[in-house]
Amino acid sequence: MTKKFFTIVLILLFIVPFTAFVGCGHETRGVKCSPHCTYNDMVVGFIQTGSEGGWRTANTASFKETAQQLGINLNFYDAQNKLENQVSAFRNFIADPKVNVIILAALETTGWEDVLKEAKVAGKIVVLEDRRIDAAENLYAIYIGSDFTEEGRKAGREMITLLNDSTKKNVVELVGNVGSSAAKDRGTGFREAIDGSGIVITESQTANWSATEGKDVMAAFLKKSKDIQAVFAQNDEMGMGAALAIKEAGLKPGVDIKIITVDGTAGAFKGMIAGEINTVIECNPLLAPQVYEAALKALNGDALPKWVPSHEGVFYQKDAEAILPTRKY
Ligand code: AHR
Repeated sequence: MTKKFFTIVLILLFIVPFTAFVGCGHETRGVKCSPHCTYNDMVVGFIQTGSEGGWRTANTASFKETAQQLGINLNFYDAQNKLENQVSAFRNFIADPKVNVIILAALETTGWEDVLKEAKVAGKIVVLEDRRIDAAENLYAIYIGSDFTEEGRKAGREMITLLNDSTKKNVVELVGNVGSSAAKDRGTGFREAIDGSGIVITESQTANWSATEGKDVMAAFLKKSKDIQAVFAQNDEMGMGAALAIKEAGLKPGVDIKIITVDGTAGAFKGMIAGEINTVIECNPLLAPQVYEAALKALNGDALPKWVPSHEGVFYQKDAEAILPTRKY
């Protein structure tokens, strides 16, 4: 009896921890197929932010369509832009023995350490898509998404060009959901780029990525003062909403008040063709093929970089008509 007890203790102390770390990159404990998993072995729990606009719709479609093409079993969860929904969905996926990969598009950068630790103990592979978080790098396999700070810098540089001939350079900013990496980093990059340029951010307020809120916030800004030369909208929807408010105030968007947005949805291209949006900074939502490929590598214990940033450009009014038919979202 005692001998048997000590044998079990020895197994628990040495053999189980060892098998948990087999593979050069990631823990693959509990993943029976590793290191020969295929997409058919992948059971994904995907936690989306919500469905706040064209970018998000394209991002969701990318994950659903690619999962179908590759034969991945996808459990999709729409958190309806509520952090508490994201956290409880995360815990449900941890508790589900079939789920071996959890993909997260985090609404906020903070508040993830505990669930990530729980996921690690449960042997789940965690991949961050779209949004970075503030958590120890060893708690997730990889982050695949845009360099939001660089997007903000690009917007800032384009704003300097747009307002080059203007003696007054008052800019208002429409911010995404304030706790998100996209909103924080775009704001930081924008401020970095306009520093010393004479541009003044006279107002900055969240409109939660929404066209309706973008319109309301812009209308409130214009009520306070019409001395605004440009809008930096951190996404297309808020910029399109701002254009409506500008028109209702009797001014011409894109002319009297310039507009720069981020994303590159068809809606923003149409806004550029109409002359209402001046410049669009690209943010790529079609991340699924890269994310699933990385998740598969992680399942098989392969080493991965911690961040793969997307390659993105800038779109101008003059090219919008020619480019629009080639856009995928
Ligand atoms: O994280 C990317 C951002 O999230 C997009 O710019 C915005 O439209 C979306 O909701």
